[in-house]
Amino acid sequence: MTSEEIREKFLKYFEERGHTRVPSSSLVSEDDASVLFTTAGMQQFKPYYTGVKDPQVDFGSYSTTSAQKCIRTSDIEEVGDDTHLTFFEMLGNFSFGKGAYFKKEAIAFAHEFITKEMGLTIDYVSIFQGEEGVPRDDGSERIWKSLDPEIEVREFGREDNFWGPTGDEGPCGPTTEVYVNGVEIWNIVFNEYYCDIEKNLTPLEQKGVDTGMGLERLLVHSNGVESIYETDLFTNILREASKLTEDTRSQRIIAEHVRSAIFMIADGVIPSNTDRGYILRRLLRRTVTRSDTKKIEKENIKALVGLIIEKYSGVYRNLKDNTVITEESYIEESSNPTARSITMPIISVIETEIEKFERTIEKGLKEFEKMKSNGIDGKEAFILFSTYGFPLELTQELAKENGIKVDVNEFEKEMQKHKEASRTASAGMFKGGLQDHSEKSLKYHTATHLLLAGLRAVLGEHVEQRGSNINEERLRLDFTHPEKMTDEQKDKVEDFVNNAISQNLPVSFSEMSVEEAKEMGALGVFEDKYGDKVKVYKVSDLSMEICGGPHVERTGEMGTFRIKKEESVSAGVRRIKAVLE
Ligand code: SER
Repeated sequence: MTSEEIREKFLKYFEERGHTRVPSSSLVSEDDASVLFTTAGMQQFKPYYTGVKDPQVDFGSYSTTSAQKCIRTSDIEEVGDDTHLTFFEMLGNFSFGKGAYFKKEAIAFAHEFITKEMGLTIDYVSIFQGEEGVPRDDGSERIWKSLDPEIEVREFGREDNFWGPTGDEGPCGPTTEVYVNGVEIWNIVFNEYYCDIEKNLTPLEQKGVDTGMGLERLLVHSNGVESIYETDLFTNILREASKLTEDTRSQRIIAEHVRSAIFMIADGVIPSNTDRGYILRRLLRRTVTRSDTKKIEKENIKALVGLIIEKYSGVYRNLKDNTVITEESYIEESSNPTARSITMPIISVIETEIEKFERTIEKGLKEFEKMKSNGIDGKEAFILFSTYGFPLELTQELAKENGIKVDVNEFEKEMQKHKEASRTASAGMFKGGLQDHSEKSLKYHTATHLLLAGLRAVLGEHVEQRGSNINEERLRLDFTHPEKMTDEQKDKVEDFVNNAISQNLPVSFSEMSVEEAKEMGALGVFEDKYGDKVKVYKVSDLSMEICGGPHVERTGEMGTFRIKKEESVSAGVRRIKAVLE
């Protein structure tokens, strides 16, 4: 069976049994600020488990089914083996609310789907053994035995057979898992509890079911192949990737990473130095460093991206569309006053990022040539890392090709030393070149930094800048936040900024490499100057951002800060317009 056939078979099976088919939600979770990416099918349904939303109203049913795109990056280093992926699709059936079904139906569905529909043999199943105040799941054992008296039931503790919550809080509960060919293939969660921030469990009023089965894994086992790269999802794509490198593992890494990158970009992520954008950047950089020449021809990356989009666009229609990004936050420094939104095809975002990195790599390779005559010492490896963006892995690979050694211990020490040095340097104070900018825009510029710091203090660390625009009259800041701000939150943010103004705090900057700035925890949304020095502006201890400047010298010059408007720009992105009076 192909991936398309399996995906459809699963959704249809549950549709025929009263489930409403719901499209995958975005990889960038709009309602759940506690995770960077969507990692499970149940995430978009969280409010239905907790009773905040009514499934009957939204889906006309108490149960749903979906194939959810997911990103999990914890195993990124393992990618390239037979099983680990950063992007995968999770097939799931979900049940919630008053009319929900529970253990009996969920287990019967799973049993029938695996053994009858897929024709696979279940090795064994597992259930929760009982631990920490949550009782053993006798019910699930009974149900499995009633369907197949011979079935082997193993039992495990919280570590293995208890799931959730996603993010900091949410529904969770004991699981029963289905094993085929020795591998866990389907996870069936019985959402019976709500886990709060302090990790306390409270029984949920309405119990629900959440299941997840990796499409890729099911595909591998139903076709009796060894690895995901031998299935229809990858065979053509790998052939294209083989034009970039002879090494099989590298071909796999490139194919896998480009696939993830495409899906991220289609959901609005752009390469940057923070959070999601940084993960995307890392994937694309690994793609370049895995190619044999450390340079990817335009026609090759186009063909590769084209193939992947073609494979998936029947199911994920947004892949065919362009992605909308704010030009300023991506292409220009945040001091550019002519920001506007532009639309860019997925391939252009990838090409731009790859080219940028290739230029840096090229310089780095020249540097490496100069360094290599007597081995690469720790200092040199560190320079390659901090100035040219070479992961240690790349330096090691090049060294191996040249038959020389890299001093990894010294490298680690250098890294440590530098972290400390940049902390000290940032305490220094320098003057900015103010002459080109009007007084008023300088003030708005500094106010924008304080506003971002205020938003993060009041709303949380998930707030990231998406774009900003300043003129003589006002500032405008676009930032990530899943919902409308309350009046109280707006007041608090105003107070935060006005407090900083009334303390007449010093504004300072220091120059350093992007890597150092990142190490220090500076916020940043641009990286044109990668490889060169960037400026990190600090407003006392309140704010630290990578920025071209210039700014006021002390906050006391700024006046009184007022938020005039708070509105939505796009899903998950809000906009504030504010003035200094
Ligand atoms: N939420 C569970 C998982 O991710 C089942 O869908 O495994």
